[in-house]
Amino acid sequence: MAKKKTIYECQNCGSQYPKWQGQCMDCGQWNTLVESVPVTLAAQSSSNSSAGWVKTQSAQVTLLNLKTDALELEAQNELRIQTGIHEFDRVVGGGLVRGSYLLLGGDPGIGKSTILIQACGALSLAEAKTLYISGEESPKQTLLRAHRLGIRSEHVQVASENRIEMIKELVIQNKPDLLVVDSIQTVFAEHITSAPGTVSQVRECANQLLEIAKSLGVIVILVGHVTKDGNIAGPKVLEHMVDTVLSFEGDSQQQFRILRALKNRFGPTNEIGVFQMNNEGLDEVKNPSELFLEDRTESLIGAAVHAAMEGTRPLLCEIQSLTSTSYYPNPRRHCVGLELNRVHLILAVLNRYLNMDFAAKDVFINVVGGLKINEPASDLAIAASLISSQNNLTLPLKSCFIGEVGLTGEIRGISQIYDRVSEALKLGFKTFYLPESNQKAFAKNKLLEQSEKIHWLKDISGLYRALGGTYKSNTKPRPSKSTNQFDL
Ligand code: TYD
Ligand code: MG
Repeated sequence: MAKKKTIYECQNCGSQYPKWQGQCMDCGQWNTLVESVPVTLAAQSSSNSSAGWVKTQSAQVTLLNLKTDALELEAQNELRIQTGIHEFDRVVGGGLVRGSYLLLGGDPGIGKSTILIQACGALSLAEAKTLYISGEESPKQTLLRAHRLGIRSEHVQVASENRIEMIKELVIQNKPDLLVVDSIQTVFAEHITSAPGTVSQVRECANQLLEIAKSLGVIVILVGHVTKDGNIAGPKVLEHMVDTVLSFEGDSQQQFRILRALKNRFGPTNEIGVFQMNNEGLDEVKNPSELFLEDRTESLIGAAVHAAMEGTRPLLCEIQSLTSTSYYPNPRRHCVGLELNRVHLILAVLNRYLNMDFAAKDVFINVVGGLKINEPASDLAIAASLISSQNNLTLPLKSCFIGEVGLTGEIRGISQIYDRVSEALKLGFKTFYLPESNQKAFAKNKLLEQSEKIHWLKDISGLYRALGGTYKSNTKPRPSKSTNQFDL
């Protein structure tokens, strides 16, 4: 009998090699090569045709100049199914599109299975049929969890299955509107000899599920495990294959969970959904700003509030800084929820134009509640919290900082200022520190009449002067020796 040919496949990028080697030549990763048997085209096609569900359709093209009248638009809207969990629907672009293929990644224990079984339950209220397949839990365990979450519906079917061929059978028999596969790393195709979770298995099973989504018009949601560095485990090709990549993030020690779209063919990727993990599963958080600021009852040293934009929604968050004497030759710069390079930039600006010395200081900076802020508009809040911590001064309790800091120390105008300020006003913020160039955005409306004090800032020394009135101690920054216009 002829010996079966084996190949070695990289678990990171999917490259194949005839012999084992320590490092993958394509992606440069070490120890990622795993022995596997190549899948022949014949084996693949026989596995597909044996299931007998792939329809042979003749190839055809559609012209883009088709008239899109009202009727067609209406039909398109019907393609979306709303789960009823508004935070989830918004992240996927206003509901799940029929026949779409989604991937949900996240750390273990973050609540991926919980949110998906809740989505199945919510969809069942709209009489949509859902099939939840778990490769990790028995049907009894899934059922118990669903009952605990208050889901009891004949429209939600659960099964425990790992074989892709059987999953296809179940879909054909039950014809669900939504299929959840939890997780793709536990599913395997029998004609591939490598273990479940390897590149060849994940790629083959994901391919077969893609055909289910596209040919039967079933919404398929896959759960994907993530690696230690937070990427979705398995080949990158998995992320290319799906229409939408969702990421479920949060600190498992805290109750907040944030759902984010990293890729979305049917909607924007900048919306976030905020959830709170309770004893009865995940609850939607309708007004996240309130939640992130609920512990703020007194003004503290080093804490500044910023109004960030997450997609179309403003979100208020608290940025905290701590500067302390360093005992290391290289002082530490530690930052959570913000980009470290932006913090370096602001430290340099404060040093150059306000003569603040951080050379012998450790700097710690954090966004409260596990949020991640990645926009230049947060610069002013970072600068204010650093000035506050370094000079031992408190910032006014109900104050909000919005603005970008440039390399020459100027405060630049930012986008969507109106939405940000009105959200802060709604939450009772009265004092604002805003870029001077944004002043004209408020010229024709009376929004700012509700505020008590607005500081229109031109440069970083203007911010310092504006904060000067709230000194707790007599510590003032050393005067700059230079004779430039920022001289204090
Ligand atoms: P799970 O959905 O199993 O996470 P994943 O599928 O991402 O691994 O969630 C498990 C965690 O959620 C677990 O640590 C307990 C917590 N949890 C609650 O706090 N309340 C609940 O009602 C449920 C179902 C889970
Ligand atoms: Mg799970």
